[in-house]
Amino acid sequence: MKPKVTVVGAGNVGATAAQRIVEKELADVALIDIIAGVPQGKALDLMESAPVERFDSKMVGSNAYDVAAGSHVVVITAGVPRKPGMSRDDLVATNEGIVADVVRKVLPGSPDAVLIVVSNPLDAMCEVARRVSRLPRERVFGMAGVLDSARMRWFIAEALDVSVENTHAFVLGGHGDTMVPLPRFSTVAGIPIPELLPKEKIDAIVQRTRDGGVEIVNLLKTSAWYAPSAAVVEMVDAVLKDKKKILPCAAYLQGEYGMRDVYLGVPVKLGAGGVERIVEIALSSEEKAALEKSAEAVRELFRILKV
Ligand SMILES: NC(=O)c1ccc[n+]([C@@H]2O[C@H](COP(=O)([O-])OP(=O)(O)OC[C@H]3O[C@@H](n4cnc5c(N)ncnc54)[C@H](O)[C@@H]3O)[C@@H](O)[C@H]2O)c1
Repeated sequence: MKPKVTVVGAGNVGATAAQRIVEKELADVALIDIIAGVPQGKALDLMESAPVERFDSKMVGSNAYDVAAGSHVVVITAGVPRKPGMSRDDLVATNEGIVADVVRKVLPGSPDAVLIVVSNPLDAMCEVARRVSRLPRERVFGMAGVLDSARMRWFIAEALDVSVENTHAFVLGGHGDTMVPLPRFSTVAGIPIPELLPKEKIDAIVQRTRDGGVEIVNLLKTSAWYAPSAAVVEMVDAVLKDKKKILPCAAYLQGEYGMRDVYLGVPVKLGAGGVERIVEIALSSEEKAALEKSAEAVRELFRILKV
């Protein structure tokens, strides 16, 4: 049986993720949105590109959830994005209702699916999906760390004029101003960047990574989608192919890193079961304190959730 992925939200991130999934022939895709005509139109336009782009995966668009039934993975991008001057946290009240509604509608037809949350504020929306779905934590997690690490990787590759393929970067914590980029675990061909770049340059890369989202919002007047869609598709790929890939994802901690009952970006092993393991790495006291500060910012949002 061909794998099936539902992408909810046919906006910038959702439609581009759906495009990447069918172009790579990872799965057939059901694209769902509340705006009449938009998911249908985008799916049809994309299928009309298939003869030229040469893919045989199928995409259907709909405003109803019947087309989503039997999905292996559900990607939730429904919600409003940031405008200039807004933080991700400003979106909480609007997107909480949207994410809860999506989970209630999508789950009955796909009770075995893995849910990957993209809507912001990311860590809080993961918690909304977990509370509403009542699924085990293995099957409800969020995309942020792969994106934040990809941004950092690009800045490293650009600074050293090396292939992006040689770079590896490590960003932990919540998907917000308190995210924790870790230079000593960030490498080029296995060499930690503190051995390759001066401290001031590394500090600048760390800050630009933290501000990576806002830099794009200020340019585009809405949030990014090429890198976010690529990041979520890497996670979908790891689940569908049961790759057991270690990727930074927003996962629900139950004692790992000394924290409980909070979503936070940590390295996880992603496979067919979703988050199959949370990988714990030894952190310095400074790094640990930064992670705890990030968790506290996430918990603050949890407290104002209504679900
Ligand atoms: N986690 C990350 O790293 C990351 C990165 C980029 C964007 N985001 C977030 O992803 C979300 C989507 O961003 P975007 O740029 O694609 O926005 P967008 O406005 O282009 O698309 C959002 C889509 O969701 C749809 N939608 C709204 N309510 C819905 C509902 N109840 N059911 C189905 N669809 C619904 C809208 O009609 C719209 O088409 C935002 O919350 C944004 O902040 C997260």
